[in-house]
Amino acid sequence: MILQIVAVSAGLGLIIAGLGLALLRVLRRRSIGVMLAVVAVVTVTATLAGVVAITLEMVIDGRPKNIVLTVVAIGGLVGLGVALVNARRVVLASRRVVEALEKVSPSGRFSPPEGPLPAELQTISTALEQAYERLRLGRERERALESARRELVAWVSHDLRTPLAGMRAMAEALEDGVADDPETVKRYHTQIRLEVDRLSGMVDDLFELSRIHAGSLRLSRGRVGLGDLLADALAGVEPLARAKRVHLSGEADAAVPVNADAGELGRAVRNLVVNAIRHTPADGTVSVRAVADGGMASLSVLDCCGGIPEDDLPRVFDVAFRGEAARTPGPDGGAGLGLAIARGIVEAHEGEIGVVNEGPGCRFEIRLPLSP
Ligand SMILES: Nc1ncnc2c1ncn2[C@@H]1O[C@H](COP(=O)(O)OP(=O)(O)O)[C@@H](O)[C@H]1O
Ligand SMILES: [Mg+2]
Repeated sequence: MILQIVAVSAGLGLIIAGLGLALLRVLRRRSIGVMLAVVAVVTVTATLAGVVAITLEMVIDGRPKNIVLTVVAIGGLVGLGVALVNARRVVLASRRVVEALEKVSPSGRFSPPEGPLPAELQTISTALEQAYERLRLGRERERALESARRELVAWVSHDLRTPLAGMRAMAEALEDGVADDPETVKRYHTQIRLEVDRLSGMVDDLFELSRIHAGSLRLSRGRVGLGDLLADALAGVEPLARAKRVHLSGEADAAVPVNADAGELGRAVRNLVVNAIRHTPADGTVSVRAVADGGMASLSVLDCCGGIPEDDLPRVFDVAFRGEAARTPGPDGGAGLGLAIARGIVEAHEGEIGVVNEGPGCRFEIRLPLSP
């Protein structure tokens, strides 16, 4: 009698276990919690099936205790079996994630293991993939910055050394009386003063850039009209434009208020306008516009430079970038810091700066949130 009951409930248990395992296979991408619930349901169903079997057979006569215990034990064993198989699947899946993780080189990408994973492990492996990607991008940025910095130091030391050597030669000539005709003496003095001005400007730029990079740029912000800022910047560069015979045109909406540090933002604008004048041939025009446009303040500088090579467009804001032709700067050449400084200042104001080729030249644009 008991053998019959064992056979019936074990048979039912196996069928239910088979169904449970199949169901778990279907649910292999679902949460581990769902899988545990399936295991519990299999255990309970297998036990219930046994109980139903014995009640149907109406065999609860002689030794009911043993019979019930047997049925419950078989149900439990079926549940245990399914649980073990399921646990093994989860363990194997997590091992696959760990193996994939161990295969990643320090600078590489994490590729999630092939095949289905339970939802939790899938989430973890997606998060790992994103974290590795962020790390990789960060390292790449760091490397680019580092090489730009190295290049900058090389160029700056070159740019400083050349004029210093010239100034030393002129000072020596003046000191030794080699240059004694009044014309030459005057020219040397002027030349020395110009070089000192240029070098001071460069040292000043370097200082500004290092403050931007160190994140220690202190902005004292207030409500500033972009039109006024533009007028000041244009007044400042008027002599340069006149000397180069470049026509300056300015245009501004009545009120374009921004919350800005007038000194710093003015410096960024001046860098753009000076560049535009320098790259525009004589009799060309540089037009500057300040307008409010869709909740943003926009300041743009259009010149007649003939366009910047497409490949260079994304790099003009890099530190020490000066374009290929300008590797050896002319008398008014800078160190390639102006645009990097402008970008640093604009970004410190939560703004954006960009450049496109347009018309006879290129158009640099600064966009800032309008002050309410
Ligand atoms: N308005 C412009 N027109 C054409 N090229 C420009 C303009 N402004 C900048 N550039 C290019 O971008 C480079 C970087 O500019 P910038 O950072 O101001 O450095 P610098 O003026 O010291 O060369 C310039 O050397 C030039 O090649
Ligand atoms: Mg410049």
